[in-house]
Amino acid sequence: MIPINRNLDPLERSGIRVFTNLAKATPDCRMLTIGEPDRPTPEPVKQAAFRSLSRDETHYAPNQGTASLRAAIAAFETARGRETAPEEVLVTVGATQALYTALTGILNPGDQVIIPTPAFSLYATIVTAAGAEPVFLDVSGTDFQITEEALSACLTESTRAIVLNSPCNPTGVILHKKSLDAVARAVLGKNIYLICDNVYNQLVYAPCGDLTRREELRPQTILCQSFSKPYAMTGWRVGYLVCPEELLSRLLLLSAAEIAAVPTFIQAAAETALTVDTEPMRQIYEKRRNYVCRRLDAMGLAYPKPEGAFYVFADISRFGIPSWTFCERMIREAGLAAVPGTCFGTEGYIRLSYCYSDRELEESLDRLEGFLKRLG
Ligand SMILES: Cc1ncc(COP(=O)(O)O)c(C=O)c1O
Repeated sequence: MIPINRNLDPLERSGIRVFTNLAKATPDCRMLTIGEPDRPTPEPVKQAAFRSLSRDETHYAPNQGTASLRAAIAAFETARGRETAPEEVLVTVGATQALYTALTGILNPGDQVIIPTPAFSLYATIVTAAGAEPVFLDVSGTDFQITEEALSACLTESTRAIVLNSPCNPTGVILHKKSLDAVARAVLGKNIYLICDNVYNQLVYAPCGDLTRREELRPQTILCQSFSKPYAMTGWRVGYLVCPEELLSRLLLLSAAEIAAVPTFIQAAAETALTVDTEPMRQIYEKRRNYVCRRLDAMGLAYPKPEGAFYVFADISRFGIPSWTFCERMIREAGLAAVPGTCFGTEGYIRLSYCYSDRELEESLDRLEGFLKRLG
């Protein structure tokens, strides 16, 4: 092959897809692998897209997003506690593009980005592709919280950003005030950006603090948000980024080169999504979270308490099997797929998603229980 960008050499396929595909290729295999809502997109959202299409809104949208969606997002974020102007909003293709644009927009080769780990693998992928260096801050030994000592040990002259994801994929853990304060103290006034991936912050089962609301951190904070999870809109590919206007005007140039713009009828649907009450959806996930935790407790599996999102990160270290092998064997021997902890940078755990119906969950957890009993 003719040489390509060397930054791509270390990149690998997402393990989540690998295990989902393996499960699909195995007859009668159940899955707890997928991190997307099993509910349909709310009807009013679909109707808004139909109406927009029937108005022939099928041409290029403004690069930054339509004025009316940006105004709605600004009002939404202001109501949630970050005073936001429409000029500070960039509409993106999901949080994925928001994260890509934010990180590639701020990083230079050799810069370092601190990623509390376990973490969603996308962060390290983007940082690596940008020719920068991911620095993994292992939080598995500190109740999945960030301590001042551990964070200081990762900080160098080259640190350009810290990524925060609370509630977290894959653990569901919410960062406590102490963790947030430690991060705030470490970055305040320094040339370090705070990338807040808040895609799960409407699906929470306990109070959830948020550094995007701290006025003093505003100049260095970039919020990445998505319509995917709270509104069951993963396939619509729409999200947004919020940051100070001066920075946004630079990131906008990058986004325009990446995608030109998000389709207008998708933006019309997203605007309607912001009027949808997510509470019923949240309650369904909370009920499932309680059920899964009860079942794991009965099996004697430990896990950090999931207070948001729709995952449980179960500790399988006592079986002495690498998580990848554990998950391969569980598919073969029990007909159940989960995601190995190593896909998130942490060995000794598996991620179970509860984006599944009550019946699916019951059957899957029965299989997990049977598998654990056979392992002994
Ligand atoms: C933590 C986290 N951030 C970002 C994303 C990407 O979301 P989107 O569908 O908006 O691109 C996901 C998707 O699973 C995620 O779990």
